[in-house]
Amino acid sequence: MSFASDLLLWYDANARSLPWRGERDPYRIWLSEIMLQQTQTETVKGYYARFLERFPTVFALADAPEEAVLKLWEGLGYYSRARNLHAAAKRVAGELGGEFPRDAAGLRTLPGVGPYAANAIASIAWGEPVPALDGNQARVLGRVLAWEAELRTPFDLLEPAQALISRERPGDYNQALMDLGAGICLPKSPKCGQCPVAGHCQALAGYAAEDFPRRPAPIPKKEEDWCIVLALVGNRLLVRRRPKGLLGGLYEFVALQGHPSPDALPGLLCQMGFLNPGVPRPLPPSKHVFTHKVWRMEGWLVRCDAAPEGYAAVDRAQLEALPFPSALRVYREIAEQNVR
Ligand code: ADE
Repeated sequence: MSFASDLLLWYDANARSLPWRGERDPYRIWLSEIMLQQTQTETVKGYYARFLERFPTVFALADAPEEAVLKLWEGLGYYSRARNLHAAAKRVAGELGGEFPRDAAGLRTLPGVGPYAANAIASIAWGEPVPALDGNQARVLGRVLAWEAELRTPFDLLEPAQALISRERPGDYNQALMDLGAGICLPKSPKCGQCPVAGHCQALAGYAAEDFPRRPAPIPKKEEDWCIVLALVGNRLLVRRRPKGLLGGLYEFVALQGHPSPDALPGLLCQMGFLNPGVPRPLPPSKHVFTHKVWRMEGWLVRCDAAPEGYAAVDRAQLEALPFPSALRVYREIAEQNVR
């Protein structure tokens, strides 16, 4: 039996039951694949359900304000996905009359749909035999093929992946590889004894499953020091919308680069245009690890009389309704206890 036949036989008996499995609606398939990029299946389930409840069709999503889309994405991370999703929905609902492009090449023209998502959607929704190469699929195939070259991107494996894929059931085949990567062909201690394609695995044949795939040395993350200030004017908290770029469109508190001392902080806030900042009260430090950088944050609560332009003074209900990045979760929670 071929690799694909063995894999599909296993999948038919062992496929995970997931809310987007068996789905035919390209809108829902697209949404699930965008959410599942870089995010665990368990995390996605709740977001997927809430999102579809609020935006059941591509037209509903296209008509929504961007802030409502970001709010439903809050906590899922990689927020450019949400902004691109919204832009793509506008294009599909408008220019394309509600119809998603019918192949991977067409899907790639949508904002936020890269080669992985295009192939995943095209194979699942339209039955196009194209491999959905993400890190998981690359790990499985890197082992099956005992691929010696270092993988810079999963798409380095495009040619051999294209040769292995099932032409009859490409969507199921891609999802079977996802399930195999999630449950059996694990990054550490793969369960080769339970693997339905062990007989095809060249890495296992050399007793070296864990030595594949070969990866380049990781690039060290850039560390940034930030001073996060919960600045209160009366009972209201100062926030502002982040500009385009990292976490663009989400909200943030007052933030200064570096870790200034509490003695220096009021003077720095004055220079930024805050009026009469008081004595800073310390808050717990916090750290957030992004893909390419790390934020090391110190926090302070400071009262002042007025803010420079660009900040909004919000009450508790407004604060709760605004989308904030998970990176600021610790300060967001403290903020909610300090405003009324
Ligand atoms: N990860 C990405 N796409 C997936 C899917 N369709 N099912 C399970 N895990 C996934």
